[in-house]
Amino acid sequence: MQAFSSFYRKEGKKLGFVPTMGALHKGHLELVKQAVRENDVVVCSIFVNPIQFNNPRDLAKYPRAFESDVALLKEVGCEVIFYPTVDEMYPEPVKKVYEFGKLDKVMEGMFRQGHFNGVAVVVKKLFDIVMPHRAYFGEKDYQQLAIIKALVIMENLDVDIVPCATVREVDGLAMSSRNVRLVPEQRRRASLIYETLLKARNMYPVSSVGNIKKEVVNSIDKEPFMELEYFEISDTVTLEPITDKKPDKAVVACIAVYMGDVRLIDNMILNF
Ligand code: PAF
Repeated sequence: MQAFSSFYRKEGKKLGFVPTMGALHKGHLELVKQAVRENDVVVCSIFVNPIQFNNPRDLAKYPRAFESDVALLKEVGCEVIFYPTVDEMYPEPVKKVYEFGKLDKVMEGMFRQGHFNGVAVVVKKLFDIVMPHRAYFGEKDYQQLAIIKALVIMENLDVDIVPCATVREVDGLAMSSRNVRLVPEQRRRASLIYETLLKARNMYPVSSVGNIKKEVVNSIDKEPFMELEYFEISDTVTLEPITDKKPDKAVVACIAVYMGDVRLIDNMILNF
């Protein structure tokens, strides 16, 4: 992979990179399409990174679909797939511990111990191997995007991080590889996540943060198929949850719910 990338870099070609864990959906393909438009060569990695899973059952059940992923990537013009094994990525036990301050202590970081360290370790390795000029990440994983931007600054990495808008199903459910694990009844009701975020956005100009949170908790509590893990309204930069509205600051509502043992996350900017 490094020899390939070095060759193209020497030729003056721009390399775009889309890191994924496979089981590709339309959201991934939009990242790839944007990368194809903006670069000369596009690399997509498919690697289910074991060290970012805090729950072994989630890792075991993570969908894998290599053959169909390859076909989809070909269709959208991705020419290179990097598909390493766990032993290739981790020939030795991982010792690295990143310090992201408060950024990885809230929301996902609070409920998924070690998750963002695992993401940062693998993304740093992937960047070292693929050597891209630009890397594309979905805004659905809002906190992950913030961590990766912080990683790039911390490690002085010469990679432009390109955030890409969340792609949604017709009913608003954010596209996710985990959606295929929802049974039909859960899937039908999963759009409540998006509807709740829309409600929070509508309420934001006229309601307090506390009232918005209460309303969200009530809506999710009423849905027997769903269990709320967290709902926070946070500063878009520091991701620190706010308790009072700050008129000059952009805020993002972030939510994580369980439907059975499927964990789904989503977010929406509430102002600006
Ligand atoms: O967002 C993902 O799919 C993963 O967290 C990533 C960035 C590919 C790292 O494993």
